Amino acid sequence: MKIFIGTQEEIAKKAAQRYVDLLKEKPNAILGHATGSTPLGLYAELIKLNKEGALTYKDVTSFNLDEYVGLDGSHDQSYRYFMNENLFNHIDIDLAKTFVPSGLDTSAETAANYDKAIEAAGGIDLQLLGIGNNGHIGFNEPNTPFGSCTHMVELTESTRQANKRFFNSIDEVPTHAVTMGIKTIMNAKSIILMAIGSAKAPVIKAIVEGEVTPEIPASVLQLHPNAEIYLDYEAAALLSK
Ligand code: GLP
Repeated sequence: MKIFIGTQEEIAKKAAQRYVDLLKEKPNAILGHATGSTPLGLYAELIKLNKEGALTYKDVTSFNLDEYVGLDGSHDQSYRYFMNENLFNHIDIDLAKTFVPSGLDTSAETAANYDKAIEAAGGIDLQLLGIGNNGHIGFNEPNTPFGSCTHMVELTESTRQANKRFFNSIDEVPTHAVTMGIKTIMNAKSIILMAIGSAKAPVIKAIVEGEVTPEIPASVLQLHPNAEIYLDYEAAALLSK
């Protein structure tokens, strides 16, 4: 895994450059997008670059990692809403080519169709990831099988607690989500994982320097041929070199 360390601004700019380079080479790239507070700096940078004409999304297709079960895309805490608000509504992407797992139709067939749609589009060229404090990627909680495809999951108490800051109370935080599986994520041709802040430092040390184990889902990235990790100084603080 290649690791880049810098200020939040530096890593957002460096990650954005990957998108500029990719879209120059392949304007119709398939991008895997992520939600959470971590990618916001990158998304702001991409919006700026798009407005300046440095990159265009006009031929891009996007697949998002995950969605809360029970939330319609119009709910302000749904991940569809997040993506529209924080990226899609501000760039020249065709909204019809943006896909987020359904939080309302949680059937196994619909989940399988999400993987099929990714495959039919040609596979994800660049998958963006954040990371949960417990090492989750997407909503693949600890001990999710590495062979998993898109599926419905029950959220751990720690994830619900971590995400309750966006809701009025813990009772409003959904108990389930639909997420790309670990295999879906690992099938991406390249992956960028971003982490900022000291709360992520222990899990970053574990995934970079520890063993590959389903107990820490993001550790699987050690097995990916083209995974890059972008860290701010706080998230990188516990790395030994
Ligand atoms: C959620 C999302 C993850 C994200 C994680 C971390 O649980 N499902 O995709 O990586 O939160 O979020 P943040 O970037 O806000 O720390």
